Amino acid sequence: MKVNVKKHTMMYPAPAVVVSAYDEDGNADACTLAFAAMCSHHPPAVMIAINSTLKRKTLKSILHSNEFCLAFPSVEHMAEVDYLGIESGYNDDKLAKVNFHHHKALNVNAPVIEEFKVSLECKVMHIAEVGSHTQVTGEIVNVQAEESVLNGRDKIDFELLDALAYDDISHSYYKTGDRLSSAFKPGLEFRK
Ligand SMILES: Cc1cc2nc3c(=O)[nH]c(=O)nc-3n(C[C@H](O)[C@H](O)[C@H](O)COP(=O)(O)O)c2cc1C
Repeated sequence: MKVNVKKHTMMYPAPAVVVSAYDEDGNADACTLAFAAMCSHHPPAVMIAINSTLKRKTLKSILHSNEFCLAFPSVEHMAEVDYLGIESGYNDDKLAKVNFHHHKALNVNAPVIEEFKVSLECKVMHIAEVGSHTQVTGEIVNVQAEESVLNGRDKIDFELLDALAYDDISHSYYKTGDRLSSAFKPGLEFRK
């Protein structure tokens, strides 16, 4: 029997990502986000949603520069990722505090955080106000990945990355699980 439960945002599995952008003085801002998703193949694009009512500094910087980087952190950086999500760049140089290093991305004017092994370089292509959040869609114009997280065919393997996941209901971090199967194959048995 199904019962009604409290309405809440949820998506599973969901990554905890870190977005970064330069402010108008060229300082690097970064914050942790759970509201992030793929949204277009052609061109490749991702969507992030940042609370517009609470004055996130990173949102201001993304809207100012129109470019940002989005990194997929590994489990080993959970505490640093958490700090980037509980303190504001208005109060602290967060990247310096967690001893992270950054440099300008190759194809966009946004900071790449060196400690994260996979980073997307994005140009803002669409902005929408959705409820409490500003939804920013970014075209992925370049991807950088450490060789250590590539499989034999030079593709990113999120198991090798040991990607950090997040659940918005329990407000908890998770390790991502084991690979089960290739997609687009197990369903073929029902085509018979
Ligand atoms: C796990 C986690 C997920 C978060 N997800 C979001 C999110 O999706 N959108 C958002 O606006 N804030 C999110 N936050 C909160 C921001 O990261 C936080 O307000 C941060 O301090 C903003 O920093 P800034 O002012 O330097 O941009 C999240 C925080 C944590 C710890």
